[in-house]
Amino acid sequence: KISHKVDSVLSLMNLKEKVGQLVLFNGSWDVTGPPSDVGSTEKLNKIKNGEVGAMLNVTSVAGAKELQKAVMENSRLKIPLLFGYDVIHGFKTLFPIPLGESASWDMEIIKKSAAIAAKEATASGINWAFGPMVDISRDARWGRIMEGAGEDPLLGAKVAVARIEGFQGDDLTKSSTLAACAKHFAAYGLAEGGRDYNTVHIDEYELYNTVLPPFKAAADAGVATMMSAFNEVNGIPATGHKELQRDILKNTWNWDGFIVSDWASIAEMMYHGYAKDRKHAAELAIIAGNDMDMEGRAYEIGLEVLVKEEKIDVKLIDDAVKRILGVKFKLGLFDDPYRYCDEAREKKDVYTKEHLEVSRDVARKSIVLLKNENDLLPLSKNTKNIAIIGSLADDKDTPLGSWRGMVTPGSAISLLEGIKAAVDTANVKITYAKGVSVGIGERNFVRELKINRDDLTGIPEAVEVAKNAEVVVLAVGEEAFQSGEARSQVDIELSKPQQALFDAIYKVNKNIVVVLMNGRPLAITDLAENAPAILETWHLGSASGYAIADILFGDYNPSGKLPVSFPRHVGQVPIYYNAKNTGRPSNAEGMVFWSHYTDEKNTALYPFGHGLSYTTFEYSDIKMNTFSFSTGKHINVSVKIKNTGKKQGKEVVQLYIQDLIGSLTRPVKELKDFKIVSLEAGESKEVTFSIDEKTIQFYTANKEWEAESGDFKVYIGGSSKASLTGDFSFKK
Ligand code: IFM
Repeated sequence: KISHKVDSVLSLMNLKEKVGQLVLFNGSWDVTGPPSDVGSTEKLNKIKNGEVGAMLNVTSVAGAKELQKAVMENSRLKIPLLFGYDVIHGFKTLFPIPLGESASWDMEIIKKSAAIAAKEATASGINWAFGPMVDISRDARWGRIMEGAGEDPLLGAKVAVARIEGFQGDDLTKSSTLAACAKHFAAYGLAEGGRDYNTVHIDEYELYNTVLPPFKAAADAGVATMMSAFNEVNGIPATGHKELQRDILKNTWNWDGFIVSDWASIAEMMYHGYAKDRKHAAELAIIAGNDMDMEGRAYEIGLEVLVKEEKIDVKLIDDAVKRILGVKFKLGLFDDPYRYCDEAREKKDVYTKEHLEVSRDVARKSIVLLKNENDLLPLSKNTKNIAIIGSLADDKDTPLGSWRGMVTPGSAISLLEGIKAAVDTANVKITYAKGVSVGIGERNFVRELKINRDDLTGIPEAVEVAKNAEVVVLAVGEEAFQSGEARSQVDIELSKPQQALFDAIYKVNKNIVVVLMNGRPLAITDLAENAPAILETWHLGSASGYAIADILFGDYNPSGKLPVSFPRHVGQVPIYYNAKNTGRPSNAEGMVFWSHYTDEKNTALYPFGHGLSYTTFEYSDIKMNTFSFSTGKHINVSVKIKNTGKKQGKEVVQLYIQDLIGSLTRPVKELKDFKIVSLEAGESKEVTFSIDEKTIQFYTANKEWEAESGDFKVYIGGSSKASLTGDFSFKK
């Protein structure tokens, strides 16, 4: 049993070695936070002394091997190191950014892409992924919205589990799987004003009903580790939050993995105004249940002294060490510390043809057709003259997105390349014009470089190209590093130069297919009104251009659905479909006193769950086998769905429920289940969902996760606007 092995190692350890296991240092290879003042020679010496438990950002077999050897050949107890890295949407073969991939609603492919990412990362020395990010976010201003699964707790929980299963597989000792890390615990996605790292105020009910479900699902799925969040939650920094970490996660949920801090987030409790110094921060964090310190030096500096001064019980350190050793045992590192140091695999298993094929498939399944007036899409491959406009169309780097692992910069298939590969260029004239750049300034992962907002000089040339074309494919949106960590924005509209480009083209050619590339929902109200066709392609990864061309020319029928609401205006943010009714949800004719904006609608521009296809689906005949049920029983609700168009297509059939009266006010709709159905033209199928007591449970005014007796409405449809409805009741 692992716990016996852990206990026997622990019994050999002295205090310095125990504290060492709680230290995570950055390798000098890469930086994803402010570097500490420990130089690389000092780090290496500490590693040799067994004073370091894990490293991050060491991304090659040679690097990992060198450091693992330093432990094995020099330290007293030879406890192998963990090697962590931000494997967020791939390692070298990149998949769509997580928000985009979640738009597939397809758990099988999400699992598959995570498994490939794990295979590539483990072939490169890594055994611990800092993912999945499972933070629910309803705020498009927050740059890290790109890294999660959107706004919904149920979809978020399912995606979290799929990614964890992909990373960890069914056997953590396999050298192609790695330990996952659900992050950031908790409520990081609800930062005030959408500004990264900012304060979070959240009540207990919202915390349980909205924020915690993906973490609970991750814990139940056996995620090996979790990462605490940078933000404070109701006045207490998450890293020092005992109720969250020790009470809920470890004691109530009985989860046996370990919690790593975010980069220096233990020490940062000083800046929060919660800890006096590093030693005090270490005391607060270890008591709260945070097990490992990422790069912040608080544990290294504080813990030994705290034990000697009898300020903390060594049992707290023992508990953290046991959890960390437990993961190391589960990975099989004690049997073979070099399990992930295989040079042959590093050459063979990374960026393979097969991985790129899967990336293309995942990418096209992640694209969402937002609008398609008069069936402008798909384009015929016999179109005589296509204008491709926008700097993003000829961009081989932006589709790689943020948090891009070890990808080679500029290695994505651009939209232009994808289109050229899809058509016979001898018959189809393709003309490209840059028009304008995104206009937000150049930047890389760690720096903002140059701001060049308003260069409109390329517009006349683009207009000329557009004038002579049958159809214009216009790529607009955001640069790769416009979203991601610390990339919050107050403005979520299309940049001014890009809007000017669209306006100028629209004057001469209205046949415009807008291809959006972006990491966050954009308030594209003007485009939505005027452009006849809009494809949301996110940042799609390595095979981006091929995947977009597959959709543009109808080789693949789009089936993606938005995992997040697209606002009409930044002033509506936070906006989410599962909101509350308020006491004044609607107006009597002409009355002012109801919950609304006087200058904009309440509704989203494109709601959660929305996404069109090249065919059409008709929902009818909602049926229930009974209209009431009690504990231990269930209701079957079914619906007929027919493909009423001319093409085979896939539809994500969505089940929503409204709990009409609760001990706490309940959302107007909540997603409770979904199924992907494939239908030939003209074909119908019956889709059945089962609703039981678990389906309607929530964290109630009793502070319990339970179902309440009462009346409910069920809605089924192809988006959160689903209107086919039925009624049922539940009695305990
Ligand atoms: O994993 C990340 C985290 O999400 C943000 N701060 C840095 C960590 C390590 O790179």
